[in-house]
Amino acid sequence: MMISIIGAGYVGLILSACFAKMGHFIRLIESDSNKVDMINSGRSPIYEPGLDGLLSDHIGKNLIATTCYNSIRESDFIFICVGTPSMPNGDTDLTMVASASRSIGEAINESKEFYAIILKSTVPPGTTENLVIRKVLKYSSTSNLGFAMNPEFLREGHAIEDFMHPDRTVIGCNDTHTGDLIESLYKSFNAPIIRTNIMEAEMIKYASNAMLATKISFSNEIGNICKRLGIDVYNVMKGVGMDHRINPHFLDAGAGFGGSCFPKDIASLIRVAEKLGYDPSLLRSVVRVNEKQPKIIIELLHNKLGDIHGKSIAVLGLAFKKDTDDIRESRAISVIRELERGGARVKAYDPLASNNACKEISGLKCYSNAKDALKDADACIIMTEWPEFSELDEEFNLMKSKVIIEGRRISSCSDVEGICW
Ligand code: UGA
Repeated sequence: MMISIIGAGYVGLILSACFAKMGHFIRLIESDSNKVDMINSGRSPIYEPGLDGLLSDHIGKNLIATTCYNSIRESDFIFICVGTPSMPNGDTDLTMVASASRSIGEAINESKEFYAIILKSTVPPGTTENLVIRKVLKYSSTSNLGFAMNPEFLREGHAIEDFMHPDRTVIGCNDTHTGDLIESLYKSFNAPIIRTNIMEAEMIKYASNAMLATKISFSNEIGNICKRLGIDVYNVMKGVGMDHRINPHFLDAGAGFGGSCFPKDIASLIRVAEKLGYDPSLLRSVVRVNEKQPKIIIELLHNKLGDIHGKSIAVLGLAFKKDTDDIRESRAISVIRELERGGARVKAYDPLASNNACKEISGLKCYSNAKDALKDADACIIMTEWPEFSELDEEFNLMKSKVIIEGRRISSCSDVEGICW
């Protein structure tokens, strides 16, 4: 099949590389010409295990990146994968979705071919019908079109594996013909395909992320209570997660959830509910618990060190989770900002995310290994579950005082105190 994919962000890149691996012909359309050049040289603009390899295998063969929308006319499928960032009030900024829809309309104008136009970006329910379909039809005179919403469920760090082995594929479509065509793209995966209408598919994505975030905040709440009782939340949640109605995943208590998805999508869902006149009290609590966790780490530090002004604090881990260089909404960044507000001197280390963190926090002192960051520190806070942190032991002896707090359960060192264990 000939597939055009608009947007070389996280989702667009993974989709392009994986569909190319499945033998389809891909045009990846991206407005940033630097990104296009990089992709066409076989290198990924983002870090994701396995992505460079897939790009270099297929680029110039059945995968080409371009800034030009013209190739869309030869496509069977057009996927919109542009960013949908959060606005300060939590609303979703749909500017890029609108502009991609307009460009598609203009590019296919007057064509006699049939096109399936599919939104992948995470959007408030109603966006495909009220924005995408309207815009495309406004700028194109063809009506031989099908529209659908096909949400993605990819985790950073595991995106290729998640794409190739999905738990389910959701196809939200209001006409059977387009839905059947999209289904044919995914039929080789050994996974259930759920057919819904367009708005239900949009909501499935929001509700899935909200559910996962709720599990995390729930575990953190239970963990905060367990800590006061002097019991181990990991033993407790192990017992809880063995109930098949609950399952053991996403019950790891700690510093809370970050990343480009959960915080943004929950904020957006809260705004959707507010605009409908409904008070989403559970979702608000999920966010409140999440915002509390970094503050608890600072409280623990104060309990151990007293005033942190002028103290030197090693922060190990800056990425919002392991296996990524992404620091968006990372709990480590919240902790560092609190430390800096309190007048502490931060010595940071992350195996992948230091560059991104330095761009976010000007003047942040990053070290090239954990040992150097720990040397002479008054305290250490572990914020990302990088496996190499589980091996640290002797290195902690280099600290001025052995105050070690972890926001992710990773260390086996006996001197470590967990945020809620
Ligand atoms: C998340 C979802 O897991 C994907 O299914 C979804 O497609 C994606 O958002 C998206 O909407 O695009 P991702 O943001 O890559 O994926 O990261 P997760 O692995 O879900 O982790 C999110 C955060 O939750 C991390 O900060 C992680 O440390 C935290 N977390 C996760 C916990 O604190 N405890 C857990 O048990 C699990």
